Amino acid sequence: MKRILKWIFRVVLVLLVLALLFVFVAYWRSTNDCGKTAAPTTPMKAIVYCDYGLANLKLADVEKPTPNDDQVLIKVRAASVNPYDWHFIEGTPKLMRLMAGLRKPTDTRIGGDVAGQIEAVGKNVTRFKPGDEVFGIGNGSFAEYCLGRSSLAAKPANMTFEQMAGVPVAGLTALQGIRNHGKVQAGQKVLINGASGGVGTFAVQIAKTFGAEVTGVCSTRNVDLVRSLGADHVIDYTKEDFTKSNERYDVILDNVGTQPLAGFKRVLKPNGILVMIGGGGPNEGQWVGPMARPVKAMLTSPFTSQKMGMMMAKGNKDDLAMLADLMQSGKVKPVIDRTYKLSEVPAAIAYLEEGHARGKVVITLE
Ligand SMILES: NC(=O)c1ccc[n+]([C@@H]2O[C@H](COP(=O)([O-])OP(=O)(O)OC[C@H]3O[C@@H](n4cnc5c(N)ncnc54)[C@H](OP(=O)(O)O)[C@@H]3O)[C@@H](O)[C@H]2O)c1
Repeated sequence: MKRILKWIFRVVLVLLVLALLFVFVAYWRSTNDCGKTAAPTTPMKAIVYCDYGLANLKLADVEKPTPNDDQVLIKVRAASVNPYDWHFIEGTPKLMRLMAGLRKPTDTRIGGDVAGQIEAVGKNVTRFKPGDEVFGIGNGSFAEYCLGRSSLAAKPANMTFEQMAGVPVAGLTALQGIRNHGKVQAGQKVLINGASGGVGTFAVQIAKTFGAEVTGVCSTRNVDLVRSLGADHVIDYTKEDFTKSNERYDVILDNVGTQPLAGFKRVLKPNGILVMIGGGGPNEGQWVGPMARPVKAMLTSPFTSQKMGMMMAKGNKDDLAMLADLMQSGKVKPVIDRTYKLSEVPAAIAYLEEGHARGKVVITLE
């Protein structure tokens, strides 16, 4: 028995050393194309970052991309910033560096949300042609041009590029949170925690289009804004803790992540649904970030009739088209907090990182 234990100990030790060696080698081999590429032959301006950290963002001349057979090239007219972007820029939570690059970001380009004009299409693309105005999720949209693939839809003619650039990630998250994860029905009581941010301003309006009775939670300065978006009730979180109220909700969308799970459970109806969307700043939960709460929820969910889970929005062209219809008809209106120029992306991200944006922060290009 003693000999077996000794051997198990040795095997575990060897595996541990090998794992550490693997991580060490992977860490030092993790690199990107910074400093390796020749001067671009067809240059364009783009925001790039060679190392993690907001201070490392810079405007540079890079090669204008060429679409492959299934891609389109978009002339960016506007983009918008999302917390998703600062997760990549800061490399937090650190767990995500397993995919994004252990030591340095593998992809040095940044930005997803885009609205612009199709410049060129790959030979398999039949949905769009050069000149079409589109919005959606591109690859490296903080640039004069970016590539796109399937997560694009036609821009409504009565909306500007700036207005539509703010829609993709935040709008998709709100729509999928309410419809797919919250399964919101007409007449249900829905609470949106963080109702004044990018996702929240869409969520309040979209929940209303589903016929819900909506309560928005925001700070004092945003009470009028959230009411103007159609919220039936507004709770000022600086004065009242909604988790202590006597109200009970069918669905809660949480964009903030600061309240303990027990508080949500208390104000959810017995068959209520908590949709965890996000929360936390760049310096909170450095290793796992907002992932700790969903794990806790997953462990407790089987023992209660209430459903609690985290969602991840998906780039879906049909949902983008639905959002375009809602915008075109005026049922959902964009809320734009500030606009910045391409060279000011670092300032735009720094503002978003403060966690108090009112609606969307948009980047405009000539
Ligand atoms: N799971 C997904 O697929 C997914 C997709 C998109 C976004 N997200 C995540 O969802 C979160 C929200 O995204 P976002 O784009 O809406 O961010 P955002 O635009 O930066 O939202 C910030 C808003 O949160 C409000 N807020 C801050 N503290 C609050 C509190 N204690 N109670 C209520 N509201 C509070 C702020 O309002 P005040 O100024 O009034 O405090 C501000 O309007 C982020 O963590 C993001 O990473 C997840």
